[in-house]
Amino acid sequence: MILAGNFKMNHTRASTREYLKKLTSCDLEGLEVFIFPPFTALDRYEGKVVIGAQNGYGARSGSFTGEIGLEQLEEFGINTLLLGHSERRHLLNENQELLSQKFNFYKKANFNIFFCVGETLEVRESGSKELIKAYLKAQLEGIDLEYPNLIIAYEPVWAIGTGKTASLEEIEEVLEYLSTLTSAPLLYGGSVKAQNIASIASLKNCSGVLVGSASWKVDSFCEMVKKVKEIL
Ligand code: PGA
Repeated sequence: MILAGNFKMNHTRASTREYLKKLTSCDLEGLEVFIFPPFTALDRYEGKVVIGAQNGYGARSGSFTGEIGLEQLEEFGINTLLLGHSERRHLLNENQELLSQKFNFYKKANFNIFFCVGETLEVRESGSKELIKAYLKAQLEGIDLEYPNLIIAYEPVWAIGTGKTASLEEIEEVLEYLSTLTSAPLLYGGSVKAQNIASIASLKNCSGVLVGSASWKVDSFCEMVKKVKEIL
């Protein structure tokens, strides 16, 4: 079972170090735990929690102002990346072509890639399941769905940071669809918290969760660790 925390633009290097110290004192046995801190907090930390980057440009180094590449990630032994998060797609306008370039570059570097997909509220409210499927499929264009280090996170845009979780039925339906496209582990993300993590993680085809806001406090994340362990 995978439990991943996306810090987004929260935490510093100092607070990340404190956080990880506390987190590694929780019993993480049986779980694969990943934390995605901001770039400035990337480092080589002790413990079994895997540190990933929230973004990476598809080049080793070069003239790409504001980005970081393989050279910078390697300095800290990072080999895990989050790509296609809805905030990158929608707030920062990353399109599918750019995302597939990034994917292909880090695939060649053998990274673990958490690739996110998720429909907008408009698409969800259209009520058409076919439209939702087509939207998600388009977000996977140019992505090698057989890549062995791929993890796909289904994160409906309307459920991210809104406190509004997709229903178990909605999640199950999408994971079922995604499972027809790939054998990669499938995660759900979008307002996951201690109260709903166990029922979500128990769903068919669900290999874990990607947690945003509820991961920012280590006590809250440890509580989620406990809840997930109860269903292992
Ligand atoms: P949230 O964010 O848990 O705060 O909804 C999830 C995510 O963005 O990965």
